Amino acid sequence: MRKDLGSKTYLFPMPVLIIGTYDDQGLPNAMNAAWGTIRDYGIVEINLGPHKTTDNILLKKAFSIAFATKEYVKEADYVGIVSQNEVKNKLEIANFHTTKSKFVDAPIIEEFPVSLECSLIKMDENGVVLGQIVNVNATEEVLDEKGNIDVTKMHLIAYEPAGHRYLELTNVVGHAFKDGLQLKK
Ligand SMILES: Cc1cc2nc3c(=O)[nH]c(=O)nc-3n(C[C@H](O)[C@H](O)[C@H](O)COP(=O)(O)O)c2cc1C
Repeated sequence: MRKDLGSKTYLFPMPVLIIGTYDDQGLPNAMNAAWGTIRDYGIVEINLGPHKTTDNILLKKAFSIAFATKEYVKEADYVGIVSQNEVKNKLEIANFHTTKSKFVDAPIIEEFPVSLECSLIKMDENGVVLGQIVNVNATEEVLDEKGNIDVTKMHLIAYEPAGHRYLELTNVVGHAFKDGLQLKK
């Protein structure tokens, strides 16, 4: 038996993206964003409401995107429920440390192993932000022997909007563009 649940904003899983920016005084900020995806080759799209982060992005024309990991669930959630408009030292409270990107005017959060460094392409009146990925920055610990990112080493988490929970993504259960070949005649 199947049930109709009506129109809901469900998509499983959603990413836990931590958007890093600098404010007008060079103070780093971060916010949690689940409504983000790839728009085109090298181009990310994030849907943002009006936040300190959006002010910062417009000011610096840049932002970083880190992928949250299970070691920092509490901190990732914290930056999603508190605004830098109210708490100036938000990152200090989260105990996040940052270094400036070599490529764009945005901070890289050291606690997260992978960051996309993005320059702003545009932000429209609905808060749809398009960013060009200028560089991907990763810690050596999450690279495989060929120097590619091995996500199974990242302890990556996802967000699920039905129960407002964070899940760890761990098990590899298949290989894309390959497993389906078994059924191809
Ligand atoms: C799990 C989660 C996902 C979120 N996703 C988004 C999102 O996609 N877009 C958005 O505008 N806000 C999102 N938020 C809310 C912002 O992270 C939150 O308003 C934050 O405090 C903004 O910080 P700032 O004002 O310092 O930029 C999310 C929060 C959580 C906890």
